[in-house]
Amino acid sequence: MTAPRAFILGYPVGHSRSPMLHGYWLRTLGLPGSYGLADVAPDALPGFFADWQRNGFTGGNVTVPHKVAVVPFLARIDATARAIGAVNTIWTEDGDLVGGNTDVGGFIANLDHLAPGWDAGSRSAVVLGAGGAARAAAYGLLGRGMHVHLVNRTRENAQALAEHFGAGVTTHARVDLPELMAEAGLLVNTTALGMLGKPLLEIDLAPLPQRAVVYDIVYVPLYTPLLQQAAARGHRVVDGLGMLLHQAVPGFTRWFSAMPVVTDELRALVEADIRAKTPGA
Ligand code: ATR
Repeated sequence: MTAPRAFILGYPVGHSRSPMLHGYWLRTLGLPGSYGLADVAPDALPGFFADWQRNGFTGGNVTVPHKVAVVPFLARIDATARAIGAVNTIWTEDGDLVGGNTDVGGFIANLDHLAPGWDAGSRSAVVLGAGGAARAAAYGLLGRGMHVHLVNRTRENAQALAEHFGAGVTTHARVDLPELMAEAGLLVNTTALGMLGKPLLEIDLAPLPQRAVVYDIVYVPLYTPLLQQAAARGHRVVDGLGMLLHQAVPGFTRWFSAMPVVTDELRALVEADIRAKTPGA
């Protein structure tokens, strides 16, 4: 049997840290196999899937801009990918290509890992943003019985997300934030604000109860101004790097038939790479 071959499919994809993650697990678990970059332009996508067998692929990850575009090439997608409307992981089942979405599981696993018991108090979460990451966050939080209060720059985008998910998600204007935060057990930033090179997320955390957890899915910088402000106020904080690490676990398990672990050593490896390549991170 040939060694499993997996990939990260995107365009451009050179910046991806997925090869580092999966390479670390292959190495430390002593497994045969490889994980490489698949830098594929949109018009080359049909050719990529036509060559699947010849390339001997076992499966892979999918990133921007292909998360929706890959769906027609797959035999089916799982319930989570259907709910999110995007695929980030592909594997084979009895020769069929199947797509899933592990961002939801990664979002929740990271929260459970870094802030255990986060859902023991209030059932109310405030989510900032209404893009793809907000969808994954909302779906994951609904699965844990939370009510999601969505605040987004463009209210229509938030409303579209709320309509998609139903009664568990409600939308609000930005001026309502202090009132919403006062009842919240969790505040999540899913927007790009606070990312290196982007404007800051301007928010006053004063109304947030002390027990509330603050989660920023941005991970460059690792410790965003939002998280710094939250930590200084005594909140437990969760950064976005862990989401990247945890979303990789189910894919690796399917392709290489061994369950990897998100260790401190792996986190340190990726952190060092981010710091080395992004001055100011
Ligand atoms: P992703 O898939 O990573 O979530 P996205 O779909 O582009 O990325 O979503 C980006 C989110 O960040 C959106 O909620 C966007 O708000 P709009 O719906 O109004 O576009 C939000 N966002 C991006 N830049 C922003 C800014 N300068 N101020 C406020 N919100 C911003």
